Amino acid sequence: MAINKVAVIGAGVMGAAIAAQLTNAGVPVYLLDIVPEQATNRNIVAETAIQKLLKAEPAAFMHKNNARLITPGNIEDHLSLLADVDWVIEAIVEKPQVKQALYKKLVAVCHKDCVISSNTSTLPLSVLVDGLPESFAAQFMITHFFNPPRYMRLLELVTSPKTRPELISTVQHFADIALGKNCVLCKDTPGFIANRIGIFWLQCGILEAIELGLTVEQADNIIAAPFGIPKTGIFGLLDLIGLDLIPPILSSMTRALPAEDAFQPISQLPTRIQDMIAAGLTGRKGKGGFYRLNAERIKESI
Ligand code: NAI
Repeated sequence: MAINKVAVIGAGVMGAAIAAQLTNAGVPVYLLDIVPEQATNRNIVAETAIQKLLKAEPAAFMHKNNARLITPGNIEDHLSLLADVDWVIEAIVEKPQVKQALYKKLVAVCHKDCVISSNTSTLPLSVLVDGLPESFAAQFMITHFFNPPRYMRLLELVTSPKTRPELISTVQHFADIALGKNCVLCKDTPGFIANRIGIFWLQCGILEAIELGLTVEQADNIIAAPFGIPKTGIFGLLDLIGLDLIPPILSSMTRALPAEDAFQPISQLPTRIQDMIAAGLTGRKGKGGFYRLNAERIKESI
């Protein structure tokens, strides 16, 4: 089995960047999303994704001239394109019902050897396949890319006993050779491996910074270099991943972990961050976050 063509569904923070990485690896990629009702230009998804990528990550299209990113836009208009792809990567909103509604459409169009995977941060595989046909479970797995995909080599693979072994090895081989990833096979446990640790760490950092009355800048200076983590620190990382992703992650971890788990007492998102999300301040993808567009915000206490 070989991966000759891929479709990425969801042209947001992750989907667009995953599609760019695949493109740079020379693989034809369809990048699909939902086009807002009011949009007059049906190709708005493609154009917006490419413009954002070129602005945020000028090196994302290293082989711009050879790029084979095929971005027709609205998924509803292009479902039939998925009939000849070998791997569909779902990177849409972190809501199980929305993801499942999409999988039902994919079941109807994808061929039986096509890998269908989710880029979910924390939703259990067992929840994502629940109620879907056995044949879907056989071709489904979680491929959890990290942000930004072109720098982050880790790829978590979560499979179930129903996932066909030859599809798992096809993805592992492709990710290793074509994308330069280090694949780690994970059990279907809450947050898999990296987010089980990472979300705990992130929440502890936010709560500690609030308790100590630190400014955003102070907190990130303390948590970044001295701990040997990238200079984004906690709040720069929130800007990068998107603040709006944190509530669904926290609630999926809260639901999945036992009541006595050490994560439960720290699982509430602070009001300040909830207010920022409500105001559209979701980080780089929104109207700015802690660092962007408002330099004063990083001098304020959290
Ligand atoms: P995002 O909010 O930036 O983008 C989601 C995209 O999906 C939007 O463009 C939206 O229009 C589209 N969409 C929503 N419903 C759709 C549907 N039914 N059909 C087609 N497109 C639809 O989200 P982001 O941050 O890229 O996250 C996507 C997935 O990747 C989530 O499952 C998230 O947990 C996961 N993830 C996110 C990371 C991050 O750093 N942001 C890191 C690793 C995983």
